Order: sequence, then structure tokens, then C-alpha cells
Amino acid sequence: MIRTEGIKKVFWDKKEGEVVALHPTSLSVNEGEVFGVLGPNGAGKTTLLRMLATILTPTDGSGEVNGYDILSQKEEVKSSIGFLSGNTKLYGRLTPTEILNYFGELYGLGKEEIRVRKEELITLLNMEEFIDKKVEKLSTGQTQKVSIARALLHDPDIYMLDEPTLGLDILTSKSIIEFIRGEAGRGKTIIFSTHYMEEAEVLCDRVALLHKGRILDIDTTEGYYNKCQGNNLRDIFFEYVNKSEGDINES
Ligand SMILES: Nc1ncnc2c1ncn2[C@@H]1O[C@H](COP(=O)(O)OP(=O)(O)O)[C@@H](O)[C@H]1O
Ligand SMILES: [Mg+2]
Repeated sequence: MIRTEGIKKVFWDKKEGEVVALHPTSLSVNEGEVFGVLGPNGAGKTTLLRMLATILTPTDGSGEVNGYDILSQKEEVKSSIGFLSGNTKLYGRLTPTEILNYFGELYGLGKEEIRVRKEELITLLNMEEFIDKKVEKLSTGQTQKVSIARALLHDPDIYMLDEPTLGLDILTSKSIIEFIRGEAGRGKTIIFSTHYMEEAEVLCDRVALLHKGRILDIDTTEGYYNKCQGNNLRDIFFEYVNKSEGDINES
């Protein structure tokens, strides 16, 4: 469903000069899989997802999403995916209902289609209570649910979610995690990033460990447990980091 060959991103920063946000990265995500990109701040998670979503152009390498080329078929990629970005802004004066209706029309959905999908997302994300309140009156968690519903309104087969639970209270996080798990059960292909190790652990079929723009490994949680000393992803992540920094220092 998603495949990259050596995609790389270099930014130019006035102070720092060239910043390699993502070293050449090859990965593939299978249909129906929940694939986690786990890494601390600055690891390159957003850069990777934004390239897959065709919002950023890779400096090098290639990739496919739903069979479409991320360089030459951006529109096709965009309509195959729902992308939740970390910096979505919603119109504070509107209610979630109004926002969803508005974006439904932008997506080119019919009135009935919008109504059905909206009802579905409202139920799945437990949005009933605040669906007709102005967004400016909502909590961070409620607003995040509206952003998720907005990103997924056109019912795409592939969900790309950049840190969907970042900074949220545990109840909202739990509800979003349950939502993601449910959607995976409905056959959606989901790639999401997080810096919460526990979240990756409970949710993902496979997890990529990302650190300083490099993928340290990609495996199932079981796979990590079998080959590592640690018995949770947090310890395992540090094992990899120590090992990779050792390698870099030696070279
Ligand atoms: N537009 C940009 N210009 C310069 N550097 C950037 C830009 N975007 C990201 N970076 C740098 O690239 C690296 C990876 O960033 P990012 O992908 O946002 O990481 P994450 O999402 O894992 O926190 C960081 O060092 C960040 O400072
Ligand atoms: Mg990020």
C-alpha cells in the first residue's frame, strides 16, 4: 500500500546549513497494517509522513502510495489518503458539524454521503456532546477529534496520522487509540507517528524506530522482544540508540 525507496530530505537552515531531516529510507506498509513510526522530537517523523502525503518533495528517492507515485501523481495520492497534520488549524467560530459539512463539500462528497460518514465518525470518535458547540469553546482533545474527523471524512483507504494523541489527556488518547484500532479492524491501512512508546506497543502490527533521521529497525513488537534484552519498547529503543551512537562514534 505504501512503499519508499531511499527517500531522503535535506533542509537548508540559515544557522545550521544543511540539515538532513531524513536519511535515505526504504520501507513498506502492507494493506490493512497498522504501522507505527516511533521516535523522539526531531527524529524526522513529520518529514517522513509529509513526504508520503506529497506535501513535501523528497530531496532524493522515490515512493508509492496506493500504487501512485508520490512525485508525479500527487493528486491521486492525496485522494487515497487521509492526512492528519500536527498543525491543523480549525475555524474557531464554526461548530464541528459546520466544519465537517464544509470539508465534505470541498472533498466533492454528496449531501447524503456527508451525512452518513459524519454520523459514523461522530459515533466512532464519541463527538456527540460537542458537535454543535463552537470550536473555540472546545478542549484540546475535542478539537483534535474534529481534526481527525475532518481528515478522514472522505473515507480513504489509507490513514496517515502525525502524532494523533500528542499532548492529549489520557481519556481522549484512549478513545483515539481505540478508534485507530477499530479502523484497522475495518481493513484500513494506517501509518501513524508517535513518541509514546506504550502507544506504539499496544497498537501497531509493526514499528519503525526512528532516531536522528535514521530508521534503526522495523519489526513487530514480538520480533523486538525476541531479539532484544528489554521487555518493553522504551528500553528496546534505548538499546538501539546506544548501539547506533556507538557505531557512529567508532566510524
Ligand atoms: N522546514 C524545515 N527547515 C529546516 N529544518 C527542518 C524543517 N523541518 C524540519 N526540520 C528539521 O528536521 C528534523 C526532523 O524534524 P521533524 O520531521 O519535524 O521531526 P519530528 O516530527 O520527529 O519531531 C529536525 O532536526 C528539524 O529541526
Ligand atoms: Mg513531528
